[in-house]
Amino acid sequence: MSSVNESTTFRLGSRVVNRLGYGAMQLAGPGVFGAPKDHQAALAVLREAAASGVNHIDTADFYGPHITNRIIREALHPYPGDLVIVTKLGARRGEDGSWNRGFSREQLTQAVHDNLRHLGLDVLEVVNLRSMFDVHHPAEGSIEAPLTVLAELQRQGLVRHIGLSNVTRAQIAEGRRICEIVCVQNLYNLVHRADDPLIDELAGQGIAYVPFFPLGGFTPLQSSTLSAVASRLGATPMQVALAWLLHRAPNILLIPGTSSVVHLRENLAAGRLTLSRQTLAELDAMQA
Ligand SMILES: NC(=O)c1ccc[n+]([C@@H]2O[C@H](COP(=O)([O-])OP(=O)(O)OC[C@H]3O[C@@H](n4cnc5c(N)ncnc54)[C@H](OP(=O)(O)O)[C@@H]3O)[C@@H](O)[C@H]2O)c1
Repeated sequence: MSSVNESTTFRLGSRVVNRLGYGAMQLAGPGVFGAPKDHQAALAVLREAAASGVNHIDTADFYGPHITNRIIREALHPYPGDLVIVTKLGARRGEDGSWNRGFSREQLTQAVHDNLRHLGLDVLEVVNLRSMFDVHHPAEGSIEAPLTVLAELQRQGLVRHIGLSNVTRAQIAEGRRICEIVCVQNLYNLVHRADDPLIDELAGQGIAYVPFFPLGGFTPLQSSTLSAVASRLGATPMQVALAWLLHRAPNILLIPGTSSVVHLRENLAAGRLTLSRQTLAELDAMQA
């Protein structure tokens, strides 16, 4: 038994959330662009998540764009009192679906107001500044200017807490000189572990680490080790991948994405899976 998995909650800003949350990106159309193929199914996933105790939902107004936030509002507003919706700023979508940087004062201010309006909120509980020096990976570059704007919007009362996404350790250090950073959202999963030292560092500081693509994202995780462990435990490979993350560190909050109620239920059940030290060692040894 591992003691880490015994804690089912962690602090996110001024709230405590269940470590198993939900990421809403899969609710937009293909390529995270346009409407979902089944609008009612998207509403059903969100309602099932909330009914199952999920109180941490990750989104962005650039999913769709605007689509995902509007679906969240339609499905769940007025929101349960314990629900924390985390959104992101820093990207803009081109008319062709491209992902572009949106770091100017005007773009960031507009994005905060768009999020508030589309989600039907007066204050955004947590906003991640999504670094865009490279769309796919953390890349060095100063985030001082956009983060200063976001901190001003926080002082105006439009944003309660600030996090960072797709960032390097240097950018986190730079960010923490500007404002309090309550969470970091970077790519991390069983086969992408560049952030291992960072996760431990943030755990020591009480800062939440929220891996995106916990199941591999657009290329779902596939591995013979994962499949073998899953069949031995009577679980699915995705459940094992999520359970491994829950065991990895106490500050990890999960936001697996799905457009399917069946997958959602499966993912939430991963919280009940206990991995022995031997199984953890086997999974730890998996290579990218
Ligand atoms: N900060 C950033 O830059 C960033 C980037 C990407 C994502 N995110 C956030 O992170 C969240 C999670 O990432 P993600 O949704 O892209 O990737 P993910 O959670 O790693 O995986 C989602 C993929 O796995 C499939 N899936 C989910 N549960 C499954 C299950 N139980 N069995 C089989 N397949 C399953 C989904 O398909 P089905 O729909 O068919 O279930 C989807 O194709 C997003 O929703 C978003 O909120 C943030």
